[in-house]
Amino acid sequence: EGEQPLADRRALVTAGPTHEPIDPVRYLANRSSGTQGYAIARALAAAGADVTLVSGPTTLPDPPGVHTLRVETARAMLAACQQALPCDIAVCAAAVADWHVAEAPQKIKKAAGQPPPALHLVPNPDILATLSQPAPTRPRLVVGFAAETEHVVEHATAKRLRKGCDWIVANDVSPESGIMGGAENEIDLIDATGCTHWPRLDKMQVAQRLVARIAAFFNSPHVD
Ligand code: C5P
Repeated sequence: EGEQPLADRRALVTAGPTHEPIDPVRYLANRSSGTQGYAIARALAAAGADVTLVSGPTTLPDPPGVHTLRVETARAMLAACQQALPCDIAVCAAAVADWHVAEAPQKIKKAAGQPPPALHLVPNPDILATLSQPAPTRPRLVVGFAAETEHVVEHATAKRLRKGCDWIVANDVSPESGIMGGAENEIDLIDATGCTHWPRLDKMQVAQRLVARIAAFFNSPHVD
């Protein structure tokens, strides 16, 4: 404990967006920067954990002391996560695309006089829900995120139950909050006993505080 409260613990973190190809040269994406997930990976490593970061495409450098695996699609992210099991802690901070495109094998061409092509979307696997399912390899603590624009705590509480994870870090991503893509975050942490509001903090401070909560969970007397 003390300096390295998570020594000998294995942790998995997902971060960043996913890119879902439309054809060989185009993709669907989102504006996730990966900042919060990378900060959590770094803070877990600083607490002594053996950390695997499964990252979608970002402009961020690999965090020092973290095994970083770069993937493109949600399907590849799930496969990389399953390769990283077993682990004690999973934190799903990635902004995973809900759908992938039934992909065209060749570049889609404009054709004069033709209507624009329709994209056929197919559901992606839910990585958080998959990792949360009861299984011998289920991480002891699975943490998800909920990005909401209204009724944050209510929606996040429902999401915790729907996904089957242990904790949800809920934040307000309405444009006026300035959180998505910004340097700061203001969250509610939801567990089985209720919800705690944290003040607005730098994303690295949110990560450190979350990791302190994780360390307290693993080092409390009723957890071996
Ligand atoms: O369902 P929603 O996208 O709001 O849930 C957000 C949480 O679920 C985040 O923790 C995100 O990383 C995770 N998630 C996932 N795989 C998906 C969709 C969301 O791991 N396909």
